[in-house]
Amino acid sequence: MEHKGTKELRTKRLILRPWRESDAGEAFANWMNDPDVTKYLTWTPHGDVSLTRALLKLREEECKRPECYHWAIVLKEGNVLIGDIEAGTVDEYQATGCIGYCLGKAWWGKGLMTEALTEVLRYCFEEVGFDRINGSHAAENIGSSRVMEKCGFVYEGTRRKAYRLLQTGERVDVIERGILREDYWQHKRS
Ligand SMILES: CC(C)(COP(=O)(O)OP(=O)(O)OC[C@H]1O[C@@H](n2cnc3c(N)ncnc32)[C@H](O)[C@@H]1OP(=O)(O)O)[C@@H](O)C(=O)NCCC(=O)NCCS
Repeated sequence: MEHKGTKELRTKRLILRPWRESDAGEAFANWMNDPDVTKYLTWTPHGDVSLTRALLKLREEECKRPECYHWAIVLKEGNVLIGDIEAGTVDEYQATGCIGYCLGKAWWGKGLMTEALTEVLRYCFEEVGFDRINGSHAAENIGSSRVMEKCGFVYEGTRRKAYRLLQTGERVDVIERGILREDYWQHKRS
């Protein structure tokens, strides 16, 4: 792998760029305090913007490391901060990472995460040299399931009742997916 870090990336409608502490107000207002967005996530709504600010202060520093791949998603139109995408848990020897993403509710269903993930995968496979990206989601999280399928992730199994939702306590099945370098190229050509 040739680490290049959280380089600014551009798509038709989006700018993916490193996080800044000063993003806190917008991130809090647009999704980080919304229980509908965090329903299937591993964190709960922030409750207070000071928590968002503390998190993003750390994230701004992390984004300076060459082996960190964590972007703020900005809609070009209006220059609005609308979400988050990362290839985290990077394993240098395995050349693997794990995808995670979320978007403010106001921007769901417009193809925006598919657009962001397509570009992140291009960067990870074509520029950085990842061999595999892992992805997992609650089985009932249909939106996330479709985003991964549309971007070429392959279904690899279901872990039964493997995760307990933080907000409701309900246990849900977890779908495991992965995209290999060769899957990526096959999907891109199809
Ligand atoms: C999951 C999430 C990222 C999807 O982002 P998005 O930008 O709305 O997704 P897209 O618009 O790119 O949609 C891709 C496909 O999924 C479908 N889809 C999206 N949300 C859906 C939903 N809630 N139910 C059914 N289908 C959905 C779209 O119709 C589209 O399919 P199509 O092209 O066949 O019509 C967004 O809903 C979100 O941030 N949710 C909260 C956080 C979260 O759950 N993150 C993932 C954790 S694993």
